[in-house]
Amino acid sequence: MGKGFFISKAIGVVGIVLGAGAVATIIALSVVYSQEKAKNVEVSPTGNPTTTTTTGVPATTPPSNEPWHKYRLPDSLLPVSYEVSLWPRLVKNAEGLYIFTGSSDVTFRCVKETDLILIHSNKLNLTSDGGYLATLSVLDGSKPPAISESWLEVRTQYLVVKLKENLKAGQSYVLRTVFTGELADDLGGFYRSVYIEDGVEKVVATTQMQPTDARKAFPCFDEPAMKAIFHITVTHPRGTVALSNGKDIETVNTTEGTVEVTRTKFAPTPKMSTYLLAFIVSDYISIDKMEGDVSIRIFARRKAIEAGQGEYALNVTGPILRFFETYYNASYPLPKSDQIALPDFNAGAMENWGLITYRETALLYDPDVSSNGNKERIATIIAHELAHMWFGNLVTLKWWNDLWLNEGFASYVEYLGADDAEPEWGIKDLIVLGDIHRVFAVDALASSHPLSSKEDEIQRPEQISELFDAISYSKGASVLRMLSNFLSEEVFVMGLSTYLNQFAFNNTVYTDLWDHLQMAVEKTGTSLPARVHDIMNRWVLQMGFPVVSIDTATGTVTQQHFLLDPDSVVNRPSEFEYVWFVPITWQKNSVSGQDFWLLKKTDTNMDMKVTVDQWLLANLNVSGFYRVKYDIANYNKLLKQLTTAHEVIPVINRAQLIDDAFNLARAKHVPTTLALDMTRYLNKEREYMPWESALDNLDFFYLMFDRSEIYGLLQTYIRRQVEPLFDYYKAETADWTKVPDRHTDQYNQVNALSKACSTGVPACTELIQAWYSSWMADPQNNPIHPNLRSVVYCSAIGAGGVVEWDFGWRMFKNASIAIEADKLRAALACASQPWLLNRYLEYTLNANLIRKQDATSTIVYIASNVVGQPLAWDFMRANWAYIFNSYGGGSFSFSNLINGVTKRFSTEFDLKQLQQFKVDNAGVGFGSGTLAVEQSIERTQANIKWLKDNRDNVQNWLKEFSP
Ligand SMILES: *[C@@H]1O[C@H](CO)[C@@H](O)[C@H](O)[C@H]1NC(C)=O
Ligand SMILES: *[C@@H]1O[C@H](CO)[C@@H](O)[C@H](O)[C@H]1NC(C)=O
Ligand SMILES: *[C@@H]1O[C@H](CO)[C@@H](O)[C@H](O)[C@H]1NC(C)=O
Ligand SMILES: *[C@@H]1O[C@H](CO)[C@@H](O)[C@H](O)[C@H]1NC(C)=O
Ligand SMILES: [Zn+2]
Repeated sequence: MGKGFFISKAIGVVGIVLGAGAVATIIALSVVYSQEKAKNVEVSPTGNPTTTTTTGVPATTPPSNEPWHKYRLPDSLLPVSYEVSLWPRLVKNAEGLYIFTGSSDVTFRCVKETDLILIHSNKLNLTSDGGYLATLSVLDGSKPPAISESWLEVRTQYLVVKLKENLKAGQSYVLRTVFTGELADDLGGFYRSVYIEDGVEKVVATTQMQPTDARKAFPCFDEPAMKAIFHITVTHPRGTVALSNGKDIETVNTTEGTVEVTRTKFAPTPKMSTYLLAFIVSDYISIDKMEGDVSIRIFARRKAIEAGQGEYALNVTGPILRFFETYYNASYPLPKSDQIALPDFNAGAMENWGLITYRETALLYDPDVSSNGNKERIATIIAHELAHMWFGNLVTLKWWNDLWLNEGFASYVEYLGADDAEPEWGIKDLIVLGDIHRVFAVDALASSHPLSSKEDEIQRPEQISELFDAISYSKGASVLRMLSNFLSEEVFVMGLSTYLNQFAFNNTVYTDLWDHLQMAVEKTGTSLPARVHDIMNRWVLQMGFPVVSIDTATGTVTQQHFLLDPDSVVNRPSEFEYVWFVPITWQKNSVSGQDFWLLKKTDTNMDMKVTVDQWLLANLNVSGFYRVKYDIANYNKLLKQLTTAHEVIPVINRAQLIDDAFNLARAKHVPTTLALDMTRYLNKEREYMPWESALDNLDFFYLMFDRSEIYGLLQTYIRRQVEPLFDYYKAETADWTKVPDRHTDQYNQVNALSKACSTGVPACTELIQAWYSSWMADPQNNPIHPNLRSVVYCSAIGAGGVVEWDFGWRMFKNASIAIEADKLRAALACASQPWLLNRYLEYTLNANLIRKQDATSTIVYIASNVVGQPLAWDFMRANWAYIFNSYGGGSFSFSNLINGVTKRFSTEFDLKQLQQFKVDNAGVGFGSGTLAVEQSIERTQANIKWLKDNRDNVQNWLKEFSP
């Protein structure tokens, strides 16, 4: 799946509205934290969890040791092929339900004698035939064993068929089921998505199977290793189009009873996993193009296609597909690649083989409305999903415990694919901000977890879903990038290609990839200090990552497990005792040297010693997944280099020096003032990455100080640093009339405007107000460039009053494109008058004004505003029972809400209020926010401690540098 669904990367990259980066970190923290809690489930000898969890998952004590009480299929039967027919109804039936009907004939081979057929089936009403829920026949036409009993196991999601005699090993059988299911709006299995076009409500029937919802569409052996060939037929209303993984090979108009329908039959799929199936019925239209002999089509709502919003996706899909064919040295395995945009979609995108589904914002591009960040997101998500067509779809991990390899890999090579489509963007570097920095924050907690899980620890569908987190995606991507870097890309792709060829249409475990990379290492005579397995196991089986401390006076190099809270206790033992094999790249002044490997806790390397006029820089371009700490003398020389000629230090490392320093300071490895010192050269910095890194880290300072006297000093300091950047862009853009050429300059222009306006640079505020006023004067013609809209809307509404706010609200309600509405909804939270924010808070609980799915994020936006924070807190406290009872259900919203509203808490008084809130609402409960309450209390205590330790230092430092 695309990673967009657990945190929108676009938010992290654009990162402008009120420190959205900090919100993302907090969300990431809470996701991992709750996952940890959920994993604290004891596993009984039968492999079944025996205790309840705190995340609301019911206790699942197995009633017995019967096979149908276990979550994994037995190994007695293997599916070969399915004939599936489905008929979704796009209008309600007499009972007011949207339903689908269907039938499935699965041919399977018996490999071990058994009198039991277990096949997944969830939420389907099976039609009984002769008293049983399925019919069995033998493929060769001989007489099948008789069925003795059949029933549905709801908890383990099986159809159970018991036989009077055994099935014979080597024999093939056919099991037929006929069923009815609900085409619900639950975003899982076969579901419906609804939108309005020209005042008419339209229904799309579509699917999301990953990880365990194919069983909600038809009975199937729903595990990734149970690959089979699928023959799919879809019956659909006349005038609609049906799509599936294969090409349509036959379309006929016919009738079902009295209903006129069209029936579309699809070419059989290759041998594939159930979670990659898709079928969609809609009245969409498409644009298409041939790339070699592969047909590429982009499908979307008629209006969106007619407006040309599919064109960008069509432009980049072909080249990215070609890129991956070359990269993998394997041709695209299918004759077509369809991409389709859906109005309601849970993930960012889903890599169904041959029919990829996307959120509208992840596929549709409109140059008049979309920013460069929106465009980047489209290119990278397309690349991510296309990368899966081979890695994941052609070769599939055997079980979900290895999900990190599938998602980590796609999250790494998405940058390579997007870079090929948009070589000017320099996007490969952005993995450092987008994935590495982000996951460093999560993986530095004692509650983190290793990339790899044991197969028997991942059983229940909820446990599988929990694996789709920042560790799997972003840490997976980071360590694979490190691996490709130390092997060299040539060796990496050599191993990759033999792996894909050997296991095509088959399944693997992650060590199979290591085997093939090791073969490539040996074939090319690449020198490594240990086997690929031995190096990588330390990164994959241990949680966390090291901080490497280098003493440039002695050449001593030491590694230590990096923990953001130095007092936290690690309860998870590691067979490697938290020692990693660390590839160390380095340069002295402008000369880079021979890499070396740190293989034990402490080592000495004479290359790490410097002379008086030299400085040392390690982990060039952050190609390794670790932080670096130096001795003070070396820090001072690096600081001097930054203030004299910062370009000598590679741009990624400038970002990294800042991020390392701030995090090392949080962990008490270095003084906080050293981190602040790293920002002093920023008045000369023009590059995006160091600025973004600094602003992300300074967000925390704003949260801690924006209600205190230190705020004024901080504002003065940042204003002085950002003013030159603001002037630079003013010149670069010919007084704000041109768009900067470079992609990253476009991002940094946003940073310059955002910070200059928020710290009160008069020219900035005037500029933005003029733009906004001219839009207000002529609402049909928005003069604000799409790149700048979020920041301009926010600053103008923040500086304005009710007139500006009401105009923004009207434009929000009128917006016809989700991308634009989202920008306005966030900006409306930037108001500075309390009554406007209070009124906006009231709107959030009126579903006619703010859609339910947006309510909690809107409250969090308001809380991110220092004026709105206490209002949002009061509002949440006063309305908790109502919010809890009417907005339950959404899995993340309560924890986002509580974490978001309390993230500034840093005083004893805040802490008391929070504890009181917990007591007062114990009767109502906190649902999925239960852990967030605990986390907020912990975080508040940590903030109180941090302020106590740092307030005076920071104040003195700021007084010195912003007099
Ligand atoms: C399935 O059967 C149950 C119980 O009879 C019924 O309530 C439900 O509506 C049925 N679902 C569908 C989709 O027909
Ligand atoms: C089926 O009917 C639709 C709508 O009535 C029509 O547009 C289409 O051409 C017909 N298709 C075939 C294969 O006859
Ligand atoms: C798609 O490519 C065509 C041809 O190169 C180009 O003219 C057009 O501007 C591109 N469209 C977008 C949205 O990038
Ligand atoms: C799939 O891989 C397994 C394990 O390597 C191997 O035993 C099996 O023969 C392969 N199956 C096919 C069809 O290639
Ligand atoms: Zn993915």
